[in-house]
Amino acid sequence: MAAGKNSDPEQKGWWQRFWQSPKTKYLLWIPAGGFVMLVTGAISLGSVNYAMEETNTLEFCTSCHEMGAFVYPEYEQSAHFSNQSGVRAVCSDCHVPKDWWGKVVRKTEATFNEIPSWITGKIDSPEKFEAHRREMAESVWAKMRASNSATCRSCHSYDAMALSMQDRYAKRRHSSEYREATDKTCIDCHQGIVHKLPEVTAE
Ligand code: HEC
Ligand code: HEC
Ligand code: HEC
Ligand code: HEC
Repeated sequence: MAAGKNSDPEQKGWWQRFWQSPKTKYLLWIPAGGFVMLVTGAISLGSVNYAMEETNTLEFCTSCHEMGAFVYPEYEQSAHFSNQSGVRAVCSDCHVPKDWWGKVVRKTEATFNEIPSWITGKIDSPEKFEAHRREMAESVWAKMRASNSATCRSCHSYDAMALSMQDRYAKRRHSSEYREATDKTCIDCHQGIVHKLPEVTAE
């Protein structure tokens, strides 16, 4: 049998050379360095995810939003705080997207918008809060419309609604015929479910 060209040790292909044990020990640092980078990467991704979980709790949000005693007491009166089924929606369930990227985007936005406004005390009294409620509510509505009320639908779904148990107003609006005829999303019909609606202005 004719010797293949790879049997000549001087003529090994790059692939064989790759798997050869390195002639000099320092070459071992190349794969070792790659491994260290992989582990460091995994740890920092872990801490990003950990930070995102920690900043999604009710306690974290209310640490600022109890301000002047408004957002939290309103929420406490709502069906999303306590209801017959005992399922609670916390702030982040409605205000922070569930998907990883959506979360990163919302947290980044909060860092550049909410933290500076908190430092400057933009909404730190009930009067100031009311003065900004409409602009904040409109911003939330716009985000929810843009996502087709994704955070609402992370708990509720038309498929899971027992329409026969709903009253005739709800049954009609949630029916597939109605949905096909309009392009309304949950937030178009259900505003002010947790917070007071902004005062009606004379426009
Ligand atoms: C560091 C204090 C602080 C924390 C913590 C905080 N917020 Fe805020 N938040 C603010 C301030 C201040 C504003 C007003 C921002 C503005 O409009 O300039 C605000 C605005 C908002 C708005 C209106 C946003 C808009 O689009 O106009 C929502 C919704 C909101 N916060 C939800 C949350 C949720 C949910 C959490 C927890 C995940 C949270 N906040 C944590 C201080 C905070
Ligand atoms: C964490 C899960 C969860 C999320 C997120 C959520 N809901 Fe709910 N929702 C519930 C539960 C639980 C109830 C109470 C059911 C009951 O009465 O037993 C409820 C009740 C309601 C009701 C009837 C009571 C009322 O307050 O009028 C409406 C309407 C409603 N949700 C709309 C929404 C909309 C709109 C959103 C998005 C802005 C949303 N929900 C987000 C779980 C959720
Ligand atoms: C076109 C308007 C419209 C849209 C869109 C809509 N709803 Fe409703 N919904 C209603 C009306 C009207 C009622 C009845 C309100 C009442 O009886 O006070 C209702 C009632 C409800 C109730 C209470 C049902 C009960 O019998 O207690 C829940 C929960 C609810 N909607 C959730 C949602 C969710 C979640 C979405 C989006 C997936 C949604 N709705 C989309 C109009 C709408
Ligand atoms: C069931 C969903 C839901 C939950 C839970 C919820 N919100 Fe909201 N939030 C909304 C919606 C919808 C709006 C838009 C205004 C409206 O329709 O009331 C809003 C508006 C806001 C605004 C703008 C000001 C205003 O009053 O409109 C702030 C600030 C806010 N939410 C903070 C919070 C904080 C903090 C919590 C937790 C204590 C929380 N929200 C819990 C759905 C929710």
